[in-house]
Amino acid sequence: MRTVIAVHTGTGNSLYLAKKIPGAEIHLIRDFLSGDYVLPDDTDRLGIAFPVYCWGLPWPVREFISKCLAGRDNTGLGYVFGLATCGAFPLYTLHDLSAALADAGIVLSYGASFRFPDAYLPLQKKAVTDDKAAEMAEKAEAGIAEAVRDIMNEEIRIPRRGPGWRLVRAISSAAMKPRSNESLHAMPSCTGCGTCRAVCPMGNISMESGHPVFGDRCISCFACYHMCPVNAIEYK
Ligand SMILES: Cc1cc2nc3c(=O)[nH]c(=O)nc-3n(C[C@H](O)[C@H](O)[C@H](O)COP(=O)(O)O)c2cc1C
Ligand code: SF4
Ligand code: SF4
Repeated sequence: MRTVIAVHTGTGNSLYLAKKIPGAEIHLIRDFLSGDYVLPDDTDRLGIAFPVYCWGLPWPVREFISKCLAGRDNTGLGYVFGLATCGAFPLYTLHDLSAALADAGIVLSYGASFRFPDAYLPLQKKAVTDDKAAEMAEKAEAGIAEAVRDIMNEEIRIPRRGPGWRLVRAISSAAMKPRSNESLHAMPSCTGCGTCRAVCPMGNISMESGHPVFGDRCISCFACYHMCPVNAIEYK
């Protein structure tokens, strides 16, 4: 049995969650999209782990499904599960995943979501402390353990849709398209370490003269901001 989990993560919550599934091979969606990794033909269990963005799927997850799964022979995929992390609640995001997979001819067997520290900076009054993050992870632990058991037993849990989900999906996918983000800047305290470039899931940061330069493919995941070891990225 081969279980592969495709992960999109900005700040690491969804990667943390994916790592809870025993024996799974974990690969970043950005590596699927760049062609550096291709889903092996003998994969029989596929997981997709990702954050909720604007009550919908992050753009890389939609791209992964339409570019890397649609058109592939998916008859060997016997069990497909989705694991979402969110700052508050997912609304219809898991149903959105189910619908996107259905468009690619794939049935989502199981979906679950968990509350984690919220990475969306514009709505934060202050950054989540390490202690608070640890407390949230601990609170989520019982639910995660139950989902792990369910997934290992190949239980079925089909996410429900609700009223207006198509409208929510349309707004979410339009709002979360990659674009330039004029609000992010590196301050003079930047040491040029390149961490922000390495963690950006969109490959949107290049280093010029030892400083990060932001391109026009930002999805506002704020990984660069949260992961900078010297807090040198400013958001205005
Ligand atoms: C652009 C963006 C949009 C978000 N939208 C939502 C949302 O609609 N609902 C919600 O509960 N959390 C939302 N969040 C919070 C994330 O889902 C949450 O922080 C997630 O755990 C981040 O996962 P990651 O660390 O794997 O990137 C959003 C975060 C970002 C960066
Ligand atoms: S992570 Fe911070 S210090 Fe490192 S290059 Fe980026 S902005 Fe500069
Ligand atoms: S540049 Fe945009 S997409 Fe890249 S890490 Fe920063 S916020 Fe995320």
